[in-house]
Formats: sequence, structure tokens, C-alpha cells
Amino acid sequence: MAERKIVSQGYKSHVAEVQRRWEGALAAEGYAAALIHAGSKQASFLDDYEYPFRCNPQLLWWLPLTRQHDSALLVRPGRQPKLFYYQPDDYWYLPPQDPADWWAGEFEIEQVRDADAWHQAIGADTAYIGDAPGLRAAVAADKLNPQRLVNRVHIERTRKTPYEIACMAEAARLGAIGHRAAEQAFQEGLSEYAIHQRYCMAIQLVDAELPYGNIIALNEHGSVLHYQAHEQDAPQNIRSFLIDAGATVHAYASDITRTYAAGAGQFAELIAAMEAMQKQLCEAVVAGLDYRDLHLHTHHQIAGILRDSGIINGSAEGAVESGLSAVFYPHGLGHFLGLQTHDVAGLIAAADGTLIPRPEGHPYLRLTRTLEAGNVLTIEPGLYFIEPLLRQWREHNDAAVINWDTVEQLAPYGGIRIEDNMVVTDGVPRNLTREAFASL
Ligand code: GLY
Ligand code: MN
Ligand code: MN
Repeated sequence: MAERKIVSQGYKSHVAEVQRRWEGALAAEGYAAALIHAGSKQASFLDDYEYPFRCNPQLLWWLPLTRQHDSALLVRPGRQPKLFYYQPDDYWYLPPQDPADWWAGEFEIEQVRDADAWHQAIGADTAYIGDAPGLRAAVAADKLNPQRLVNRVHIERTRKTPYEIACMAEAARLGAIGHRAAEQAFQEGLSEYAIHQRYCMAIQLVDAELPYGNIIALNEHGSVLHYQAHEQDAPQNIRSFLIDAGATVHAYASDITRTYAAGAGQFAELIAAMEAMQKQLCEAVVAGLDYRDLHLHTHHQIAGILRDSGIINGSAEGAVESGLSAVFYPHGLGHFLGLQTHDVAGLIAAADGTLIPRPEGHPYLRLTRTLEAGNVLTIEPGLYFIEPLLRQWREHNDAAVINWDTVEQLAPYGGIRIEDNMVVTDGVPRNLTREAFASL
């Protein structure tokens, strides 16, 4: 089982930097202060049980309050941020513990039993960030989540501080431990459900603490990009395993995918070809790179692999131009990663929300920005045998460019995705995921 570590190094400087960036954003948008609300628990329809609580990521940027619903933070230029720390008298649920030493020193803290205590911070020039029903009811609509302010802060969040990168390195280490346990469970022939349990056990996180639902896919299930079922029976014949699973540390995510073949053969060779390509893509992640170019380059690379392995006929260039490569690789190369798995501001250029367009024909690309030092992002090329996309191609396009016999042989293996988490630096990029696996 994974040993638990608190990442606190660099936290003081992180808070100072977040304060500095918020001060810049408030000044630019003409606000005197901001009140950031954690969010409230929300019951599902006609029920008294709540959805798992997920804290407002804008609050999590300041401090790791992953469970403290109804806490709120007041941000004012030149002053220490003030935290209304909600600790209700509760005997149905365990109330939050007292603030932890390692982060509490950076805030003025008022421990409150009343969820509305933050109302004392309501002011004329204050912006409010959050989606709690109580927040919506109490403040003016035009001061709630002002789009330009939110965009500005989102863009600020794309350059991670050393503390944030340390959290993500630790999340990668936990993820790698979980992946090793899952790979072992796959070798033992366990079901998707049992592999998932082994993963969670190895890193001591429950489902609600994972950054996203684990994708644990045996055989053809690997062709469903966000496959969510955890089948309880192991298939008779286990051919392949695709696992896309991460972990969180102080709310910062890792997002890692590996694909395995149960034995030698063409699918194992395809994995090797994809892995060699993926490693090269990771090395190409440098400041100044337009991520769209790397995404398009990947289509050419994958088309080459498809052709070399006899899955398609004709030239790689032709396969990219006709859209054939997208039949096998229908998602984007990756996305920003941070407090959110698909982290913010991957597509916007400025506070006004101007979009940096996706290349035509690539509607699912989540990152179109030019990379800067401090960005953290994923590189996750894929190659899949997706029945509905293959069928559509057969019905509407030149069916002869696909070698259907080969597709039929490979489709029972599902697909391949290999995903690493990269830090852009001023020099050689840092691969958090491969570092983590190597450290085990
Ligand atoms: N795990 C979701 C993704 O890779 O984007
Ligand atoms: Mn993933
Ligand atoms: Mn991802």
C-alpha cells in the first residue's frame, strides 16, 4: 500500500503567488475583493442523499479544502486572505477537523458554525465565485462569477507553481503504484471490478477521491473511450487491458493510461509502436509549441502506424486528409491537467474569452494554446477499433482503404491509449508519469 505524504514544501510561496495573481485580476476587472465559496452539498432529485461533494476548484487553488462544503474565502488586495471555515455542530456526519497546521498559517481564519457567516463579507465591489444555491440567493447576479474575471483567473491557473507541480508529482507516484497493482491483477486474470478494487486498495483512495472514474477495460471494452462499467465477471479469454486511472494529492490530479496485451502478436506490436511514438511526442513538449501542431502531427504518425501494420491501404497523408485517421483516433492528443482532470483555459486566449480555434475536423481537441513554462498537460495518443465509427466509414466512404480482415482480427482487443503527464519547462520537459513509474 502507498505511504501517505503531505506535500507542503513551497506552499507559502504558492499562496503568495496566488494572492499576487488574484490582485492583478481584481485590479484589471475593477473589483475590490472576491469571495470564493466552496459550494454546498446537493441532494439528488426527490431524495435526501447528496451527490458526492466536489469543492469549487477556485477555492482549491488556495487551499486543500476538499471536503469542507460551505467554507468561503475572502480575497482582498494587500491583506491576508480570510477564511470562513465551516464546522457545523453535526452528529449525522463527521464535521471537518480543525485547520491543519501546514496550511492554516497563511490565512486569517474564523471557525464558524453558521453556513451564512460569510454574509458579513458582502460588499458593493465584491465579486462572488461559486455555485452554491445560498450564494446565488444572497448576491447580485451581475457580481456572481463575472466571466472576464473567471477567464482571467483560469488563464493564471495554467502556469503551475512549484508547490502545485510537487502535488502533481506525488499524485503521479500514487497513480503509478495503483497502476502496478492493477497490472498484477490483470496478469492474475481478475475481473474489471476486482482490478478496480485492487487499484483503490493500493493507493488507499475511495472512488469519490479519484480525479475521475477509473477506466478499467478488458478486451473490446478498450474501444469505449471513457468506459465506465466495472464488470464483475472476468471474461473467459483475456486478450488485452486498457487502464486509465489517476489519483489526487491536495486535490491535484494525475491522469495516466497504459495498455497491455496478454500475449505476443499483432496487438502487442501495435502497442510497442504506439509507445515509441508517444515517447517522442512527450519529448516534443516545449515552451513556444502550438499544441495544435503536435496534435496534427500525431495524426500523421498514427496514420503511418495504421499503414505499416496493414490496417489501412494508401498513404498516411491521404488517410489524414480524408478523415480516416480520425476513425481510429477520434479524440484530442491531450489537455491541461491540474485541480481538474480536464483543466481550465485550454482553449481561451484572453479575459474576453476569445477562443483559439481547433483545427477543422478536430472537434474534441481540448488544448489549442501555445505552451508556456509551468503548463502541465497530458500526451495521450490512442488507436482504437470502434465499431460505430468503422461502420459509418464503411457506409459513407471508400471502404476499400480499410483492410477489414485485419480490423476483424484486432477489434476483440479494443484499443490502445498511452497517457503521460508532462510539465513544460524552459528546457527539457519533465515527464511526471515515467518519473513516477521509474521511482517504484
Ligand atoms: N481520463 C480522461 C482523460 O484522459 O482525458
Ligand atoms: Mn486519462
Ligand atoms: Mn487525459
